[in-house]
Amino acid sequence: MRNKLIAGNWKMNGTKPEIRSLIGGILSRLDPERSAEVMVLPPFPYIPLVQSLLDHTPVLLGGQDLSPHASGAYTGDVSGSMLADWNCGYVLVGHSERRALHGETSAQVAEKFVAAQEAGLQPILCVGETLDEREAGRTREVVGGQIGAVIEAAGINAFSRAVVAYEPVWAIGTGQTATPEQAQEIHAGIRAQLSAEDATIGGRVRILYGGSVKPDNAAELFACEDIDGGLIGGASLKAESFMAIYQAA
Ligand code: 13P
Repeated sequence: MRNKLIAGNWKMNGTKPEIRSLIGGILSRLDPERSAEVMVLPPFPYIPLVQSLLDHTPVLLGGQDLSPHASGAYTGDVSGSMLADWNCGYVLVGHSERRALHGETSAQVAEKFVAAQEAGLQPILCVGETLDEREAGRTREVVGGQIGAVIEAAGINAFSRAVVAYEPVWAIGTGQTATPEQAQEIHAGIRAQLSAEDATIGGRVRILYGGSVKPDNAAELFACEDIDGGLIGGASLKAESFMAIYQAA
């Protein structure tokens, strides 16, 4: 049985007062009766603040990116061990905004995936196709290639300590979410690809859906067999909407 995970990717948003109030709102809406897990992924400068606010709570903490290197002369970069030092257990790798705006290739994403695990973090590997790729009927090929690059670099066993997030690029921040059928089809394909390498690992890995998840579409997405939760952008910036999505899980 895979536990649902609801992760809030705040992207480059937030101020100290907003974050204090958001975390307060999240904590006040947590329900100890529910098995679903909640995670927040703040911008780097706010991680120490969020870590202190989350101390002794079940809310998980992660970073939005990391360097593929362990330390050294990499101005502006943040290493996995720095994130681990602040109690982050997770880190996004390969978010489509990093792939598109920072030119990250699947090979570089795979290096970051390996670096995250070397620092003791669980990578959340983001994959997804653009609208052009979907319209050209290339979704399975694109997503399969993004997953395949990481299997090749890290090995299938590495997926026993990782999360996958399917985020169709055309659904991110557009209000146009994938239908449950569209999402389930790709999630099942990702699971089949991993299961072909190792059935146990494929069966256990959590695959999140991301892309315009809102309180009113979350329940039908999370009801799909291979959708194990959500990676939430815009709706994670307000405790009310984020935790309504958690309730739906
Ligand atoms: P939105 O929920 O704002 O579409 O963003 C999704 C996302 O990119 C999460 O990583």
